[in-house]
Amino acid sequence: MRINVGAIELGSDEKELLNEVIASNRISEGKFVRRFEREWADFIGTKHCIALNSGTSSLIAGLKALELKENGIKPKTKVITSPLTYIATSNAIVLSGFEPVYVDVDQTNFGIIPDNIKAYLESVDDVEKHSLILPVHLMGYACDMGAINQIAKKFGLLTFEDSAQAHGTKCDGKVCGSLSTVSDFSFYIAHNVQAGEMGALTTDDNEVARLVRKIKANGRACDCLICTRSEGTCPKINLGEEDFDPRFSHDLIGYNFKTTEFQAAIALAQLKKINWIIKKRQENVKYLNENLAEFSDLIQLPKYSNEVSYLAYPLVIKKPQVFSRKKLRLELEKKGIETRPLFGSIPTQQQSFSHLKQRYNGKLPVADYLGANGFYVGCHQYLNQDDLDYVVKSFKAVLKQR
Ligand SMILES: Cc1ncc(COP(=O)(O)O)c(C=O)c1O
Repeated sequence: MRINVGAIELGSDEKELLNEVIASNRISEGKFVRRFEREWADFIGTKHCIALNSGTSSLIAGLKALELKENGIKPKTKVITSPLTYIATSNAIVLSGFEPVYVDVDQTNFGIIPDNIKAYLESVDDVEKHSLILPVHLMGYACDMGAINQIAKKFGLLTFEDSAQAHGTKCDGKVCGSLSTVSDFSFYIAHNVQAGEMGALTTDDNEVARLVRKIKANGRACDCLICTRSEGTCPKINLGEEDFDPRFSHDLIGYNFKTTEFQAAIALAQLKKINWIIKKRQENVKYLNENLAEFSDLIQLPKYSNEVSYLAYPLVIKKPQVFSRKKLRLELEKKGIETRPLFGSIPTQQQSFSHLKQRYNGKLPVADYLGANGFYVGCHQYLNQDDLDYVVKSFKAVLKQR
């Protein structure tokens, strides 16, 4: 038996759309990418969605767009963010020239706590050097965006949700990814909607959307969605009498963050069944919770909510001295159950950010604890009853060894 954190089944829906891509003889961005963008924007509830080649590039492009936008964020300023996340969030901040500053997270939903952000901002004497709050909806749990947006407003900051792990989670009656100026998503393998590699950015801001379309295409001057630029003309840009080509005319410095028709086709097929994916994962979380409840003195089980679109089944060791994460993970892996640690607290537990270790030593007790004692197993939509029972049986066998 092998229970992985995620799985993909490329079934008839995916094959049908992939075959349409092949039949179209176009694999670089075209009508499938445009269709995915429209459908994802509708699903999240934003005016715009721009597909990119990864969640990481979506973060970088979003930050760049906020910097270039009128009344956006100032270069080289500080971004308040989560210490407990996949490393890409902090990497994108640093690589975009900003400085990440960390506040501690909540023990149950793993997101940054609004009161901690407020206390931090009230304690610093350089508030004007802060530009953005970038919370992460980890494992599908929504951060308290209502409170975070209020704090941002009070201190003159913008907000940027990292929704890479929250595809369809609800927050204050809206969907994560529609509660800030801009939000990124990742469709990496094992995410609820998966395309192998792909990302997206959602926004209601016309200027941000326009800038991201340019940034992801090496700063191309033409930002038309469907254009005649390949024929040497563009209705929007005036190239004058000179012999310039709109495909190779650039008015800002950008990246190549474009995706492909294949990725969009797979994501579209997945999106068609998103409600089933979310519901199945919720049912699996509920079932595992009910059947592992007897161990809740040893492990913190995930809080159940039908508002959450679960990325995985996160657990936290409560008494590491009685039963360590290392031992539990090792025993589960021996039984074929894949486990992954809860990322580690970036400034204190990740080597690439070790220059920050001393500064944050003892300042992020919850993130440090979760980074050292949190982990997750799969709750994905392809697990059947036998799989779930096997997971329960394996946990029981291992935890009763103590
Ligand atoms: C919270 C978070 N942010 C950003 C990313 C980056 O996405 P990608 O791997 O598509 O670049 C991920 C990836 O899983 C993530 O979990």
